[in-house]
Amino acid sequence: MLFDARNRTSSMDELVEQAREIQDRAHVPYSEYPVGAALRTADGTVYVGCNIENANFSNSLHAEEVAIAEAIKSGHREFDRLAVSSARRDGVTPCGMCRQTLAEFCDDDLVVVCDHGDDVTEYTLGELLPDTITEDMLG
Ligand code: THU
Ligand code: ZN
Repeated sequence: MLFDARNRTSSMDELVEQAREIQDRAHVPYSEYPVGAALRTADGTVYVGCNIENANFSNSLHAEEVAIAEAIKSGHREFDRLAVSSARRDGVTPCGMCRQTLAEFCDDDLVVVCDHGDDVTEYTLGELLPDTITEDMLG
């Protein structure tokens, strides 16, 4: 496995494949930018999501939100890996809002795999969103 300074690796991931496949279900008439996400739970179950846009623009759901919502409503609270992919294979990362949504349920060491097509970049959630507000600060 070949790494550079940013943990970019050429090994392709089954989770990335699932994030790619679900892009076919994206509803993106406005951006024409399909995104897929695949979130793996501690027991290995995978939940996928795609972006679902709305004519008012504001109500669009992001792929990561859809994936984590499905996992949470199915009773899962522990996650170890997330893959995100856009149809452009541009290495898209979760946006700021999605990073915060992930941080509600996932530890800093959640691995976030971003799809460049021929290779991927791996981050941790802690790298993408350091020093975030969490439930224990509100106690
Ligand atoms: N998008 C996601 O689904 N996840 C992200 O975190 C980045 C952005 C979607 C939202 C919108 O439908 C399109 O990508 C362009 O921003
Ligand atoms: Zn987002």
